[in-house]
Amino acid sequence: MMHPMLPGRPTPGQAEPKPTPAAGAWPGPDPTLAPVTVRSLQRAMREGKTFAALTCYDATTARWLERAGVPVLLVGDTAAEMVLGHPNTLHAPLDFLITLTAAVKRGAPRCLVMADMPFMSYQTSDADGVRNAGRFMTEGMADCVKLEVDASFAPLVALMTRAGVPVVAHIGSRPQHAKQVGGYAAAGKTADEAIRIIADADAMLAAGASMLLVEATPLEVTEEIVRRSTVPVIGCGAGAGCHGQVVVLHDLLGLTERQPPFALPIAQLGSQLSAVADTWKSRVREGTLGEHPYALADRERAEFLRRIGRSAASDASTGGDARNT
Ligand code: KIV
Repeated sequence: MMHPMLPGRPTPGQAEPKPTPAAGAWPGPDPTLAPVTVRSLQRAMREGKTFAALTCYDATTARWLERAGVPVLLVGDTAAEMVLGHPNTLHAPLDFLITLTAAVKRGAPRCLVMADMPFMSYQTSDADGVRNAGRFMTEGMADCVKLEVDASFAPLVALMTRAGVPVVAHIGSRPQHAKQVGGYAAAGKTADEAIRIIADADAMLAAGASMLLVEATPLEVTEEIVRRSTVPVIGCGAGAGCHGQVVVLHDLLGLTERQPPFALPIAQLGSQLSAVADTWKSRVREGTLGEHPYALADRERAEFLRRIGRSAASDASTGGDARNT
């Protein structure tokens, strides 16, 4: 099933006028118009309106993404790579991700914030899984949690759903299995594997998952999942036929060394960052820091100079600039 793309968005900016949608027409989930919920994403699916999602790990970036009208922010376990510098996603501490999730929600209160459950926060037991999902919802203020699953996780997804936690079932390629399969790899490239992934999707839908996230699958496999799904399907390298699309923001910003072909850089912030750092180094070297913003009132200054044993006259000779004394 193909979905028409949302119209392109203006450059982020607080004061930008919002185009008013034609009377009666819902433009799709947009945090600048209304808070985004699982329900509004389900409505987008029904109305054939695709939606964008991006990873986000901090409040400042979240604020800009909300202003840009990105409806879904994923606090991914890719934070282990992008923020902590690990080689894969296995090293995202639970408490750390909960803290980042709360930061993102504070920065973008109207976006739907999806918290990624990290490695070993739900695989150890169903009780651990439900408890930790609860921590993301309460301490992390998440709107839903995402976990990497196959059909064997259906009982856990059902328990979370029963507890009131909206679950995004991440199927297809599962980076938390990277050590097992020898790295990040596409999934569903044989008929057997493709059928198994379809069965995973069915099991997740039956268990009550609120959304599916399909990663790195061939188009035919994705299309079949989308065709069968009763809930929004978010793709990550799974083709344009999904209801939503998510990629790692750092890839689009040109901050990473290598990007997957479905998330090629749109900006070159890495080079811009280097240029900014160079300019700052020059300013520091040359002492051109701009006008100094803090000053003593005349009376306080005179008193201060008296107490440190300097006269106003001798100070005047230095121009009052401590760096010159
Ligand atoms: O952690 C993550 O960033 C993800 C992706 C789907 C991009 O799970």
